[in-house]
Amino acid sequence: MLGSKGPILNRAVVQYVTGRRIFVEGHETKSHNFFRSWGLLPRAWVDIHLLMSLARSDERFMRAALKEARRALGQTSPNPVVGAVLVIDNRISAKGHHRHAGCPHAEIVCLRDFGNTIPAAATLYVTLEPCSTTGRTSPCTDEIIKAGLKTVVIGTVDVNPRHAGRGVTLLQDAGIKVRVGVLTEECTSLNEAFNKWIVTGRPFVVAKCGMSLDGRLTRRPGESRWITSAAARRHAHALRAQVDAIVVGAATVRIDNPRLTARNAQQARQPWRVVLTRSGKLPRHARLFTDRFAERTLVYRGKSLRTVLTDLGKRNVTSVLLEGGGEMLGQALDARLIDKVQVYLGPILTGGPVLAFPGRGASVTQNAVHLDRIGYQKLGQNVCITGYSRFPERHPRPE
Ligand SMILES: NC(=O)c1ccc[n+]([C@@H]2O[C@H](COP(=O)([O-])OP(=O)(O)OC[C@H]3O[C@@H](n4cnc5c(N)ncnc54)[C@H](OP(=O)(O)O)[C@@H]3O)[C@@H](O)[C@H]2O)c1
Repeated sequence: MLGSKGPILNRAVVQYVTGRRIFVEGHETKSHNFFRSWGLLPRAWVDIHLLMSLARSDERFMRAALKEARRALGQTSPNPVVGAVLVIDNRISAKGHHRHAGCPHAEIVCLRDFGNTIPAAATLYVTLEPCSTTGRTSPCTDEIIKAGLKTVVIGTVDVNPRHAGRGVTLLQDAGIKVRVGVLTEECTSLNEAFNKWIVTGRPFVVAKCGMSLDGRLTRRPGESRWITSAAARRHAHALRAQVDAIVVGAATVRIDNPRLTARNAQQARQPWRVVLTRSGKLPRHARLFTDRFAERTLVYRGKSLRTVLTDLGKRNVTSVLLEGGGEMLGQALDARLIDKVQVYLGPILTGGPVLAFPGRGASVTQNAVHLDRIGYQKLGQNVCITGYSRFPERHPRPE
């Protein structure tokens, strides 16, 4: 990247050079003064070139570790998803990921995959800070130190209060060079559900529905209940394989008799199927109570959604898919319980009474739930919209 116009720095390089977290978005340097302004010497031209290439290869290998981690998405709860690669002479020599809770962690799988004495030039890349406590397995930090690794690159620090940087310190105290913060956003969002649950004890809530362009959930009674296409529904089903529980209101069970199974994903675990009811009137012959996953169905009677979520969190449910119907979704919105929405829009206007998110609604627009990090995906004639909730301070309703 060094050329007549000067180097283009990325944030990782500046971070390395200064040893501080300084964010420089898309900066094109015009002269040495830029470096001097950060307290660097002119000889930094050379160092920066090396550091930029180090940053690029760190990102490349962390991407490989992320790919490895994604192989176990939806399989590791209540543990996080983690991937690792071992790099020797700029080549990946071994890989590993954490498969299930109770199985060895990614770093250990990776070191076992290598199987030999680790050479001094080896670098271990891992998407999440290695654990430093004894749980179902011994601390990964001990294993890394014992293996004789000299350099470890970590995607993101573990927000679990029992770890939270302790693993990094232990490795550094053992004389290992540790670089932290490579592809941090990707590494963090991989475990968005775990990160919320481990800190708050409550599951990460995704509100999902298929709706018409005028915000309705259903067609008229007696007609096909689908508003979205088969492709959109397959896409939505894939989400079920990644959550620990699916929650619906009793009316949805009475009207749709859904299966709520993770049908399309290979090796999918069956999430809990959770029904909320006040009346207790649920058909005994509903699929949820009679199919082969009947023991994975929980019914909560007369409990608020918030209470149910807290209880599910205690059962190690880290993520919940709220699948409707409208009353459930409206309550979740009013109570600010939704962390992420995944809405499928079908090209149809139905009118009618079943709104997707009824509830009381925001008292003033400033109090509405705003969405960040919006994603749009076209699925044939349908569109999938995702976004993360941002809850503003509550404003009083004007007199
Ligand atoms: N398009 C989609 O993606 C989609 C998804 C799901 C459902 N749907 C449709 O949505 C329609 C049903 O929606 P809906 O709004 O009428 O009803 P709903 O939300 O499915 O269920 C409402 C019922 O849930 C129970 N309930 C709600 N809040 C509760 C709480 N806090 N505590 C305990 N129980 C609670 C009550 O059951 P009791 O009456 O037993 O007390 C209530 O009558 C169906 O037609 C279905 O086809 C569409």
